[in-house]
Amino acid sequence: MPATAIAPLKIGNLTIDPPILQAPMAGFTNAAFRQIVREFGGAGLLATEMVNARGFVWLDEHEAEHPDRLWGVADEPRPLAVQIWDNDAATMAKVGARLVEEYGVSVVDINFGCPVRQVTEKAHSGSYLLREPQRMHAIISQLVQVCAPTPVTAKIRLGCHPKNINCDEIARVVEEAGAAALTVHGRTAADMFRGHADWDRISEIKAHLKNIPLIGNGDLDSPEKVVTAFEKYNVDAVMIARACLGRPWLFSQAAAALRGEPIPPEPTMVQQRDVMLHHYRLVVDRFGEEKATILMRKYACCYAQGKRGARHFRTHVAKVSTEAEFYAVVEEHFPLSPAD
Ligand SMILES: Cc1cc2nc3c(=O)[nH]c(=O)nc-3n(C[C@H](O)[C@H](O)[C@H](O)COP(=O)(O)O)c2cc1C
Repeated sequence: MPATAIAPLKIGNLTIDPPILQAPMAGFTNAAFRQIVREFGGAGLLATEMVNARGFVWLDEHEAEHPDRLWGVADEPRPLAVQIWDNDAATMAKVGARLVEEYGVSVVDINFGCPVRQVTEKAHSGSYLLREPQRMHAIISQLVQVCAPTPVTAKIRLGCHPKNINCDEIARVVEEAGAAALTVHGRTAADMFRGHADWDRISEIKAHLKNIPLIGNGDLDSPEKVVTAFEKYNVDAVMIARACLGRPWLFSQAAAALRGEPIPPEPTMVQQRDVMLHHYRLVVDRFGEEKATILMRKYACCYAQGKRGARHFRTHVAKVSTEAEFYAVVEEHFPLSPAD
């Protein structure tokens, strides 16, 4: 239990309570996943997958359509952040304005942290931009101008490389450009997901921000670690990514811990299986049986992860392509015992 009460997070004129955020994750945090997270509660702000700004503009102009990744965004509950990525300030601003005006999103978040080659080397975007603070400034300030009063936030890593950690400078640039919050994943881009997130380094950034909040991210996989992040590392909010993929109830457990209340127990294995099947139905409703079943393979593996027999289940679920096969594999192989 935290020694002092944890205040809600303020992002511009928005109050995020509890100050626990669901991270954007490409390929995972679509509307079906977000609905599941919302049903359990405990996440103060949810985020979409990252949406490419150039792709948005192209689709809009050529096909009169919007990216699939905006599925659900127009209608689902608020607050909701949409994350965008690219390196051209004017294109980003165009998309930001549309997200605010047409979709009424609560927050426009900018991806300056993605370390994947297709985004960095090929598109000079994501974490690549950490080496170009002035360009980051231009992107943020133009977005802030067109999105106001909707807040614009930035998500970064510590730097591009362990030998080039420049998050303090970047933090100052982000705030000067008018962003309303800064999220930091405590690794460098070169680290990818190796090693541990450096929470001491995240914490040091706080001194470089004057007014905007610092959101810490990396390796939070238990309510206890969430409490520690606030108490020891002085962040204003936390963001959880991988650990919530198979445990979307983690937010409600972390929120209870922050309030100093008893932590709700893990759902039983049967309940966890039922959550997964509910998730599957939501995906089928949207994508139809064939596409949904293939999409669900990876989510199903997340739900099984860490449980006895997970590897066996993974082997079988990786091959399913129809609804009947999916249900049969779940019935026969979904682990019903917790980890040893
Ligand atoms: C599959 C996957 C997809 C991700 N996609 C995004 C993304 O679209 N935008 C983003 O800012 N970060 C993305 N991330 C990074 C996470 O948001 C987060 O910063 C990182 O996983 C560290 O947090 P964690 O240790 O809680 O997982 C992704 C991570 C994973 C594992």
